[in-house]
Order: sequence, then C-alpha cells, then structure tokens
Amino acid sequence: MATTITITGAGGQIGYALLFRIAAGELLGRDEKVRLRLLEIPQGLGAAEGAALELQDGAFELLEHVEVTDDAAVGFDGCNLALLVGARPRGPGMERADLLAANAGIFGPQGSAIAENAAADVRVTVVGNPANTNALIAAASADGVPAERFTALTRLDENRARAQLALALDAPVSSIRRLPIWGNHSATQFPDISHATIDGRPVLDALAERIDDVPAWISDTFIPRVAKRGGEIIEVRGSSSVASAANATIEHTRDWVQGTDDWTSAGVVSHGEYGVPEGLVSSFPVRSIDGEWQIVEGLDLDDGARERVDASVAELVEEREAVRALGVL
Ligand code: NAD
Ligand code: LMR
Repeated sequence: MATTITITGAGGQIGYALLFRIAAGELLGRDEKVRLRLLEIPQGLGAAEGAALELQDGAFELLEHVEVTDDAAVGFDGCNLALLVGARPRGPGMERADLLAANAGIFGPQGSAIAENAAADVRVTVVGNPANTNALIAAASADGVPAERFTALTRLDENRARAQLALALDAPVSSIRRLPIWGNHSATQFPDISHATIDGRPVLDALAERIDDVPAWISDTFIPRVAKRGGEIIEVRGSSSVASAANATIEHTRDWVQGTDDWTSAGVVSHGEYGVPEGLVSSFPVRSIDGEWQIVEGLDLDDGARERVDASVAELVEEREAVRALGVL
C-alpha cells in the first residue's frame, strides 16, 4: 500500500521545494511508496502540471502516481497526509496576521473537503500563514475529524533557534536539544532556552562561559533574531522562506508519523495545557508517540517565560476573534 499525500499550493515555491524530496523518500523513508495529489487554484495549475512532468522525468521509484487538480474533493480523495501550503505569502513590511483576511477563506472549505474525502487516518500539517489560526479554521470545519489531526508548522522556528544557538556556542547544531517554541508562528513566539541542553548539559551554563549578561543576550539578541527571522529572509531575498520551510514541513510530518526520541515543537490543539485556552492551536514542546503528538507537561515557566507565553497566546485569541468577525468561524 502506498501513502497518499496531498500538497496544496503545489505550483508555488514551497510546493516545488517539497515535491521532489517527498518523491525521493525523504518524508516517509525509502521503503514507502507515495501517491501525490497536487491541489491548486486555476491560476496555479500550469506550474503544478509542469512540476508533475518533472516528477515523471525524475523516474522516482517510490512514486506510484501523481494527480494535478483544482477540485478539492479530488485533491483530498483518500489522502493520508495533507500538507496545506497553498496561501498567499507576506511581502516586505507585512506581519503574518495581515494575511488573515486574504487566507482565512481557504482553510474552512479545505477542512470540509478533508472531512468528506480524506482517509480515516488523515493527518494535516498547515504551513500557509497565519498557520496556527488557519489550522484552527480547518479543524473547526472538518466535522468528524479529531482536532488533534490538524497541526501548524513551528518546526522552522525551532530549527532557526537551534541554528542561532549553535552559532553562538560555536557548536554543531546536532548537539543542541530541547529548545521548544511556544505560542504563535509570529513575532510574538517564545523560543524557550531554559530547558535546552548542549551535549546533555544546560545551554545556560555553556552561554555563561561565553557571554557576560546571558539574560540580556536572550531577550535582546536571541529571541528577536529567531522570532523575526521570517521577516529578515523576506528583506534579504525579496520573498519569504522556501527551502527551509519545506525542510521543516518534512521534518514535522515525518516525526508525527514515525515518532520522536526527544522534544520538538509543533502547533497543536490545546486542551488547556499550561493555561492556553482550549481549542487554540498553539505551539508547545511535544513528543510524537504512536503517531500522535503529546504535549510535554510539567515544565516550569518562570515569570518572564509565563509573560512571553501569555503574550503570544493573547495574539492567538485576537486572531480567533478576527476570523470570527470575518464570519469564517
Ligand atoms: P507561493 O505564492 O509561491 O505559492 C502559493 C501557492 O498556493 C500558489 O501556487 C497559489 O496558486 C496556491 N494557492 C493559493 N490559494 C490556494 C488554494 N485555495 N488552494 C490551493 N492552492 C492555492 O507561496 P509560498 O512561498 O509557497 O508560501 C506558501 C505559504 O506558506 C504562505 O502563506 C507563506 O506565508 C507560508 N509559509 C509558512 C511558513 C511556516 O513556517 N509556517 C514558512 C514559510 C512560508
Ligand atoms: C517564515 O517564517 O519564514 C514564514 O512564515 C514566512 C513569513 O511570512 O515570515
């Protein structure tokens, strides 16, 4: 049996960076056959069809079938994994929340189409921004599909945080673990260094050996660098991140299916953990066990951390209010 994977916005930039890696086995491993469904809007069909031709020319041995469509019922038919990328990206000077009105209308109908057409085990990774609230909208529209099957990508933020720490400590990125992102995939996100380890010892100790005022470095340098990295990429390259976003999408979805041996970060539905209002899709430290994300519970949040988590969660509440005002929820 092959796994059916639907990629929305498959004719766009991130779509192009995803398709060939998935066909090469980087999402599900080199033993699992894949069937791809490329869902686009009419204006994007040509680019998606071109990508499908190139997929043929790649002669990928794991690739059983490719279908290009602008019909959501066809696009999500029997899909086991749905990567919801299709949405407008922000440009210079915009915040991701500025995309709410433009993109909110996409995710309700796609949530319904997933409920009506996808396989019973469907898992959904929302990439299109604002990713957390779009995941919330899709979940709310997917009658009969557990909300836990809808997640938002914050793995890119975690990867950015680990990479910045590795640079600061002049250490390999693989030595850094347990660096979760809390809250929204936005400038209010909280990359939480307090539990992070480097080769098993506290990162805070390693930083203290190199930096005079570690708390100031964390609040004035590290957190803003990570939280505003998406904007920095837009300023420097003229459009938003692509390959790093595709890489994080693959890592998030692969870990969800295959499991993790340690913490990572994902936007998942809250059941009230850490005081995050029930139903919001917020980033938490998570583990993937038996195909399900589980929030790592019982972590201490000091006053400063609590304040940052609360600020990001307040923004998620505002976004939910804004989409309610648009009549989307
Ligand atoms: P892009 O403009 O290159 O591609 C988007 C594609 O989506 C286009 O081909 C468009 O035709 C298609 N599309 C639009 N509406 C659609 C719909 N209703 N159904 C199917 N397809 C649709 O943009 P991109 O650079 O690929 O970025 C896509 C999204 O991902 C943006 O919203 C961007 O902000 C977001 N993003 C999120 C993260 C993250 O970490 N969560 C990282 C990078 C980018
Ligand atoms: C990112 O973090 O790179 C993406 O969400 C794109 C953006 O708008 O910042």
